[in-house]
Amino acid sequence: MIHHLYAACEFFKHIIVLKATDRCILELKRWLDTRTGAFHWGHATQLHVDTEGKREQLQDKEEKMRSAVQHVMKCDFEKENIIEPLDLPPADCIISAWLLDVISKDHDDFRRCLGKFSRLLNPGGHIILIGTLNATYFTVGKDKIHILRYDEDLARKALVGEGFVIDCCKVKERKVVSDVCDAKAVIFIVAHKEK
Ligand SMILES: C[S@@+](CC[C@H](N)C(=O)[O-])C[C@H]1O[C@@H](n2cnc3c(N)ncnc32)[C@H](O)[C@@H]1O
Repeated sequence: MIHHLYAACEFFKHIIVLKATDRCILELKRWLDTRTGAFHWGHATQLHVDTEGKREQLQDKEEKMRSAVQHVMKCDFEKENIIEPLDLPPADCIISAWLLDVISKDHDDFRRCLGKFSRLLNPGGHIILIGTLNATYFTVGKDKIHILRYDEDLARKALVGEGFVIDCCKVKERKVVSDVCDAKAVIFIVAHKEK
């Protein structure tokens, strides 16, 4: 997914994207390098341009993102340092969208994963966490994928427990009727790592 990066590249000029599989890395690099056969993200770009109401051209928007994303790297939350064997200078901001919901085995694990993000951040650095509330599954084709069920209170407590201060939290109730996913709402939290 690249949706969150459209807004991010307006504010951050040096973005590193972390992906779990070689296939994900290959696909994103193919798009960044405008190579033949790259996935066509035009629909997402169009949606972003329409939502922002700016007169920016589709192509300009994509170019801006391509120049901001400087590296695509492998990560694995099974490891203590998720980018092992590499290290990076501490980040000013981490955006995590619909990731912890899928990879966390339970609520303790959700909290441990937040701790792993914290280690990659500057003191005072921000995390933007996006996830689904009270969901148990989503489907991809015929596959049903498990989601960790949690609520706003759990997400807040997990962040605070890992040394974050919550700056803003918004919950958007779900209006779409579909059995692709049983989420009740989407949560957006901005927090910063205590200095
Ligand atoms: C619902 S998707 C979230 C997509 C995410 N926002 C993105 O842009 O890649 C869940 C993602 O978790 C990744 N994943 C699964 N196990 C992982 C692990 N141990 N460490 C890191 N990511 C993992 C999968 O590759 C998948 O892309």
